[in-house]
Amino acid sequence: MKTEELRIEDLVSAEFIARKVKEISDTVGDALAVNALSGGVDSSTVTMLGHRALGDRLRTYFIDNGLMREREPERVVSIFDHLGIKVNVVRADEIFFSALKGVTDPEQKREAITRTFYNDVFGRIVRDSGIRYLLQGTNYTDIEETVAGIKRQHNVLEQLGIDTKERFGYSIIEPLAQLRKPAIRRVAKALGLPGEIYDRPPFPGPALVARIIGEVTREKVETVRKATKVVEEELSGVGAFQFLAILHEDKVTGVREGRRDYGQQVEVRCWDSTDAKTGSPTELSYKTLHRLAERITREVPSVVSVTYNITRKPPSTIEAV
Ligand code: XMP
Repeated sequence: MKTEELRIEDLVSAEFIARKVKEISDTVGDALAVNALSGGVDSSTVTMLGHRALGDRLRTYFIDNGLMREREPERVVSIFDHLGIKVNVVRADEIFFSALKGVTDPEQKREAITRTFYNDVFGRIVRDSGIRYLLQGTNYTDIEETVAGIKRQHNVLEQLGIDTKERFGYSIIEPLAQLRKPAIRRVAKALGLPGEIYDRPPFPGPALVARIIGEVTREKVETVRKATKVVEEELSGVGAFQFLAILHEDKVTGVREGRRDYGQQVEVRCWDSTDAKTGSPTELSYKTLHRLAERITREVPSVVSVTYNITRKPPSTIEAV
């Protein structure tokens, strides 16, 4: 089945919401459905549509993989609690860190995350529950890029002709398959989601793993998490498309309190872009760059060097892994 794009200029949010709520209700009937919420705009929008259609018959899970930004699980649960939606948090950090142990190749790191999520954690929840309907936030760009072979999105199955009912025993419902991100943001707003969800900068599925060069350890995740907090606090007001901190593998010589300190390096990236397909570095002021360096080296004491990436995409990518 070929999906047709619904362009933002043709989108009437209220009509779209009413249509999708009816479609989900008609498909699921009196049965139960399940979905995974990450707190990103797509999965949050699907969660809202699903709860409007099914109420408590939609079971929503947040998989805490231990790889997210500071206080992310608590924040997501609290936002949805205020909206009257219960989110079941599943602690799964042990299994994700053990899947990542010893893995240094970027694609293998991504593969480890996908496999752990779909086979071992969320897949198990779905299989054990016996629930036959799975709601997913697959969007039009995911489908387009997967079909074109640019980026394999794990959530695009039926579009590739894989019969999920036959293969996994469940049907996938993808209410956002016709929309691109700006249209989804508009629907999210119309559904009553707060600005901190519908206006959020993109954040990758593999979470902070996309920002750690080399093997991923708890310690490195903690380091990049602290640097990310500083970068987000300092750059959220500059109007950029996305901004992030990357932890390098190589160490460099630094000096602290008059003594040699062989320490870590953090690279800051800040992007101007409209669709993430191409991008250029935001022209940040030296004052801003200095403040970033000051704060990162003070608040993350293992770091002795902070750099700013001045490369465009392409040939760079937005994330490092
Ligand atoms: P790259 O690094 O490929 O990123 O230039 C393009 C945009 O996609 C985001 N990104 C991801 N999003 N799953 C996602 O949902 C992923 O595996 C993933 N990898 C990158 C990235 O943050 C940027 O906005």
